[in-house]
Amino acid sequence: MALTNSAAGYGTLTKIFHWTIVILFALQYAGGNIMVAIGFNSSFAGIDTNTYYNWHKSLGLVALVVAILRIINRRTGQLPPWAKTLSKRERAFIHRVEQVFYTAMLVMPITGFLYVSFGNFGVNLFGVWETPRPIPRDDTLRDIFKWAHIIAGWILLAAMAGHIGLVLWHTLVKRDGLIKRML
Ligand code: HEM
Ligand code: HEM
Repeated sequence: MALTNSAAGYGTLTKIFHWTIVILFALQYAGGNIMVAIGFNSSFAGIDTNTYYNWHKSLGLVALVVAILRIINRRTGQLPPWAKTLSKRERAFIHRVEQVFYTAMLVMPITGFLYVSFGNFGVNLFGVWETPRPIPRDDTLRDIFKWAHIIAGWILLAAMAGHIGLVLWHTLVKRDGLIKRML
């Protein structure tokens, strides 16, 4: 299997980046919602709130690095031809959704980071290293980036539902094996 994309399909790098981001985003949505729901000084499944926050912030920054590598990989390489079974409207839809994805891959971690930075909460990387806080506290900007983080999260969720729905429709109903292109 080729490392980079080719006329024959997606390369290994694209597939690794794709599924790494899927796992990281799943953890981010699960952890993000758990930590907000349980509130401070609490715990869920034996993990306390602080640990949820530390890991949410840390994995979010890891996702930012993966996203940058993924964008470089996509920009420097080519894309395989469209799957023949996708209609013109579906191709236009996928194109839009992919634009949302690539934007969200940057916007989610950056807004999250700016939120905690302007709030002077900082990032305790995986609970082992309190990173420097070079940005001065600003409560207005803190609130703006908090809401940007939450709203972007909902937009991304809608895009993911559309993307997964389309892949499932083709794979399970039309049975054209679309999922195999990313496996
Ligand atoms: C891939 C990146 C990320 C995703 C997908 C993501 C997703 C989420 C989600 C779904 C929530 C719950 C929002 C809600 O409904 O209240 C959340 C909350 C939060 N996220 Fe992220 N996040 C990411 C990265 C980050 C990063 C890098 C930071 C900080 C360095 C961060 C800090 C926070 C904080 C502090 C909250 C709590 C918000 C509140 O107080 O309501 N996130 N995130
Ligand atoms: C269970 C969840 C998912 C499944 C089953 C899935 C499946 C697929 C498949 C089969 C393709 C190839 C479509 C084609 O061009 O023929 C694809 C492409 C793509 N997917 Fe997903 N996907 C999932 C979640 C996600 C998530 C959460 C994101 C983004 C955050 C994402 C971003 C992309 C992007 C950007 C492409 C285009 C190729 C690229 O630039 O990497 N996918 N996905």
